Amino acid sequence: MRAARAAVPDRIRWAVVLLDPGPADRVLEIGCGPGVAALLVCERLRTGRLPAVDRSAVALARTADRNAAHVAAGRLELRCTELASLEVPDGLLDAALAVNVNLFRTRSPGTELALLPPVPRPGGVLHVCYGPGGPQSAERVTAPVADAIRAHGYTDVRVRTDTAGLAVSGRAQASGSP
Ligand SMILES: C[S@@+](CC[C@H](N)C(=O)[O-])C[C@H]1O[C@@H](n2cnc3c(N)ncnc32)[C@H](O)[C@@H]1O
Repeated sequence: MRAARAAVPDRIRWAVVLLDPGPADRVLEIGCGPGVAALLVCERLRTGRLPAVDRSAVALARTADRNAAHVAAGRLELRCTELASLEVPDGLLDAALAVNVNLFRTRSPGTELALLPPVPRPGGVLHVCYGPGGPQSAERVTAPVADAIRAHGYTDVRVRTDTAGLAVSGRAQASGSP
Protein backbone atom coordinates (compact mmCIF):
# COMPACT_ATOMS: atom_id res chain seq x y z
CA MET A 1 0.00 0.00 0.00
CA ARG A 2 2.83 2.37 0.89
CA ALA A 3 4.54 1.76 -2.49
CA ALA A 4 1.31 2.59 -4.34
CA ARG A 5 1.01 5.82 -2.36
CA ALA A 6 4.57 6.84 -3.14
CA ALA A 7 3.77 6.52 -6.85
CA VAL A 8 0.77 8.85 -6.83
CA PRO A 9 1.36 11.69 -9.29
CA ASP A 10 0.43 15.17 -8.05
CA ARG A 11 -2.24 15.60 -10.76
CA ILE A 12 -4.07 12.53 -9.49
CA ARG A 13 -3.86 13.44 -5.84
CA TRP A 14 -5.17 16.91 -6.73
CA ALA A 15 -7.98 15.57 -8.93
CA VAL A 16 -9.24 13.29 -6.16
CA VAL A 17 -9.17 16.18 -3.67
CA LEU A 18 -11.31 18.17 -6.15
CA LEU A 19 -13.67 15.24 -6.63
CA ASP A 20 -13.93 14.83 -2.84
CA PRO A 21 -16.01 11.66 -2.93
CA GLY A 22 -18.22 10.93 0.05
CA PRO A 23 -18.39 7.43 1.56
CA ALA A 24 -21.73 6.60 -0.10
CA ASP A 25 -21.07 8.23 -3.49
CA ARG A 26 -21.25 6.47 -6.83
CA VAL A 27 -18.51 7.84 -9.06
CA LEU A 28 -17.65 6.99 -12.67
CA GLU A 29 -13.97 7.11 -13.60
CA ILE A 30 -13.32 7.55 -17.32
CA GLY A 31 -9.93 6.31 -18.60
CA CYS A 32 -8.66 4.82 -15.34
CA GLY A 33 -5.30 3.76 -16.88
CA PRO A 34 -3.17 2.04 -14.23
CA GLY A 35 -5.76 2.65 -11.51
CA VAL A 36 -3.98 5.13 -9.24
CA ALA A 37 -6.94 7.51 -8.92
CA ALA A 38 -9.24 4.50 -8.50
CA LEU A 39 -7.22 3.45 -5.45
CA LEU A 40 -7.50 6.87 -3.82
CA VAL A 41 -11.22 7.09 -4.56
CA CYS A 42 -11.97 3.56 -3.32
CA GLU A 43 -10.13 4.25 -0.08
CA ARG A 44 -12.72 6.94 0.63
CA LEU A 45 -15.78 4.83 -0.23
CA ARG A 46 -17.74 2.70 2.18
CA THR A 47 -21.12 1.88 0.64
CA GLY A 48 -20.26 3.89 -2.48
CA ARG A 49 -19.16 2.39 -5.80
CA LEU A 50 -16.64 3.26 -8.50
CA PRO A 51 -17.42 1.96 -11.96
CA ALA A 52 -14.20 2.57 -13.92
CA VAL A 53 -14.03 2.52 -17.69
CA ASP A 54 -11.05 2.15 -20.01
CA ARG A 55 -10.88 0.98 -23.62
CA SER A 56 -7.54 -0.68 -22.96
CA ALA A 57 -7.61 -4.20 -21.52
CA VAL A 58 -3.96 -3.79 -20.50
CA ALA A 59 -4.77 -0.64 -18.53
CA LEU A 60 -7.74 -2.34 -16.85
CA ALA A 61 -5.59 -5.30 -15.85
CA ARG A 62 -3.23 -2.87 -14.13
CA THR A 63 -6.16 -1.23 -12.35
CA ALA A 64 -7.44 -4.64 -11.26
CA ASP A 65 -4.00 -5.61 -9.93
CA ARG A 66 -3.51 -2.41 -8.00
CA ASN A 67 -7.03 -2.51 -6.56
CA ALA A 68 -7.61 -6.24 -6.05
CA ALA A 69 -9.12 -5.79 -2.58
CA HIS A 70 -11.58 -3.15 -3.80
CA VAL A 71 -12.61 -5.29 -6.78
CA ALA A 72 -13.14 -8.26 -4.44
CA ALA A 73 -15.23 -6.09 -2.11
CA GLY A 74 -17.45 -5.07 -5.05
CA ARG A 75 -16.50 -1.43 -4.57
CA LEU A 76 -14.65 -1.11 -7.89
CA GLU A 77 -16.39 -2.32 -11.06
CA LEU A 78 -14.21 -2.46 -14.18
CA ARG A 79 -15.58 -2.08 -17.71
CA CYS A 80 -13.45 -2.47 -20.82
CA THR A 81 -15.12 -0.20 -23.34
CA GLU A 82 -14.85 3.01 -25.30
CA LEU A 83 -16.64 5.69 -23.34
CA ALA A 84 -18.90 6.22 -26.37
CA SER A 85 -20.20 2.65 -26.01
CA LEU A 86 -20.63 2.71 -22.26
CA GLU A 87 -23.87 1.32 -21.04
CA VAL A 88 -24.83 3.59 -18.23
CA PRO A 89 -24.46 1.68 -14.98
CA ASP A 90 -27.74 1.09 -13.23
CA GLY A 91 -28.68 3.94 -10.98
CA LEU A 92 -27.47 7.45 -11.42
CA LEU A 93 -24.00 8.49 -10.44
CA ASP A 94 -23.04 11.37 -8.21
CA ALA A 95 -19.94 12.36 -10.16
CA ALA A 96 -17.65 11.47 -13.03
CA LEU A 97 -13.87 11.95 -13.18
CA ALA A 98 -11.46 11.84 -16.11
CA VAL A 99 -7.73 12.47 -15.62
CA ASN A 100 -5.46 12.99 -18.63
CA VAL A 101 -8.04 11.67 -21.09
CA ASN A 102 -7.35 13.55 -24.29
CA LEU A 103 -10.65 12.99 -26.05
CA PHE A 104 -12.23 15.86 -24.12
CA ARG A 105 -9.80 18.37 -25.56
CA THR A 106 -8.44 17.07 -28.83
CA ARG A 107 -11.70 16.55 -30.69
CA SER A 108 -15.33 17.37 -30.21
CA PRO A 109 -16.42 14.77 -27.64
CA GLY A 110 -20.07 15.09 -28.64
CA THR A 111 -21.00 11.42 -28.58
CA GLU A 112 -19.43 10.86 -25.20
CA LEU A 113 -20.86 13.99 -23.60
CA ALA A 114 -24.29 13.28 -25.01
CA LEU A 115 -24.40 10.09 -22.99
CA LEU A 116 -22.86 11.57 -19.87
CA PRO A 117 -25.57 13.99 -18.68
CA PRO A 118 -27.71 11.28 -17.15
CA VAL A 119 -24.62 9.66 -15.70
CA PRO A 120 -23.73 12.21 -13.12
CA ARG A 121 -27.24 12.72 -11.75
CA PRO A 122 -28.76 16.18 -12.16
CA GLY A 123 -26.66 18.29 -9.85
CA GLY A 124 -23.82 15.78 -10.02
CA VAL A 125 -20.43 16.98 -11.18
CA LEU A 126 -18.14 16.04 -14.07
CA HIS A 127 -14.44 16.81 -13.49
CA VAL A 128 -12.12 16.69 -16.49
CA CYS A 129 -8.54 17.05 -15.21
CA TYR A 130 -5.07 17.16 -16.75
CA GLY A 131 -1.53 17.47 -15.53
CA PRO A 132 -0.12 20.99 -15.40
CA GLY A 133 0.84 20.71 -19.06
CA GLY A 134 4.05 21.47 -20.85
CA PRO A 135 4.56 24.12 -23.46
CA GLN A 136 0.85 24.70 -24.11
CA SER A 137 -0.90 27.45 -22.23
CA ALA A 138 -3.42 26.26 -19.65
CA GLU A 139 -6.18 27.95 -21.61
CA ARG A 140 -5.45 25.95 -24.76
CA VAL A 141 -6.18 22.84 -22.73
CA THR A 142 -9.11 24.05 -20.64
CA ALA A 143 -11.03 26.29 -23.07
CA PRO A 144 -12.13 23.55 -25.52
CA VAL A 145 -13.18 21.32 -22.62
CA ALA A 146 -15.15 24.10 -20.97
CA ASP A 147 -16.83 24.97 -24.31
CA ALA A 148 -17.73 21.33 -24.96
CA ILE A 149 -19.27 20.66 -21.59
CA ARG A 150 -21.20 23.97 -21.64
CA ALA A 151 -22.52 23.05 -25.10
CA HIS A 152 -23.82 19.80 -23.61
CA GLY A 153 -25.83 21.45 -20.88
CA TYR A 154 -23.43 21.46 -17.96
CA THR A 155 -23.75 24.52 -15.74
CA ASP A 156 -21.54 26.22 -13.16
CA VAL A 157 -18.58 25.42 -15.40
CA ARG A 158 -15.43 26.19 -13.48
CA VAL A 159 -11.80 26.14 -14.61
CA ARG A 160 -9.04 25.62 -12.06
CA THR A 161 -5.31 25.85 -12.60
CA ASP A 162 -2.79 24.72 -10.04
CA THR A 163 0.84 23.67 -9.96
CA ALA A 164 -0.52 20.09 -9.75
CA GLY A 165 -2.86 20.29 -12.71
CA LEU A 166 -5.70 21.81 -14.72
CA ALA A 167 -9.36 21.02 -14.21
CA VAL A 168 -12.68 21.86 -15.81
CA SER A 169 -15.74 21.00 -13.74
CA GLY A 170 -19.42 21.31 -14.60
CA ARG A 171 -22.72 20.40 -13.02
CA ALA A 172 -25.09 18.08 -14.86
CA GLN A 173 -28.63 19.23 -15.47
CA ALA A 174 -31.73 17.12 -15.74
CA SER A 175 -32.28 16.19 -19.39
CA GLY A 176 -34.77 18.57 -20.90
CA SER A 177 -33.69 21.40 -18.57
CA PRO A 178 -33.10 24.70 -20.34
C1 LIG B 1 -3.09 9.06 -20.55
S1 LIG B 1 -4.00 7.73 -19.86
C2 LIG B 1 -4.41 8.41 -18.27
C3 LIG B 1 -4.65 7.34 -17.27
C4 LIG B 1 -4.96 7.84 -15.85
N1 LIG B 1 -6.26 8.49 -15.80
C5 LIG B 1 -3.88 8.74 -15.36
O1 LIG B 1 -4.09 9.95 -15.24
O2 LIG B 1 -2.79 8.21 -15.09
C6 LIG B 1 -5.56 7.82 -20.70
C7 LIG B 1 -6.39 6.56 -20.49
O3 LIG B 1 -7.69 6.81 -21.03
C8 LIG B 1 -8.08 5.72 -21.84
N2 LIG B 1 -8.99 6.27 -22.87
C9 LIG B 1 -8.71 7.25 -23.75
N3 LIG B 1 -9.77 7.52 -24.53
C10 LIG B 1 -10.76 6.68 -24.12
C11 LIG B 1 -12.10 6.45 -24.54
N4 LIG B 1 -12.61 7.14 -25.56
N5 LIG B 1 -12.84 5.51 -23.91
C12 LIG B 1 -12.29 4.78 -22.88
N6 LIG B 1 -11.02 4.94 -22.44
C13 LIG B 1 -10.27 5.88 -23.05
C14 LIG B 1 -6.79 5.16 -22.41
O4 LIG B 1 -6.91 3.79 -22.78
C15 LIG B 1 -5.83 5.36 -21.25
O5 LIG B 1 -5.77 4.25 -20.38
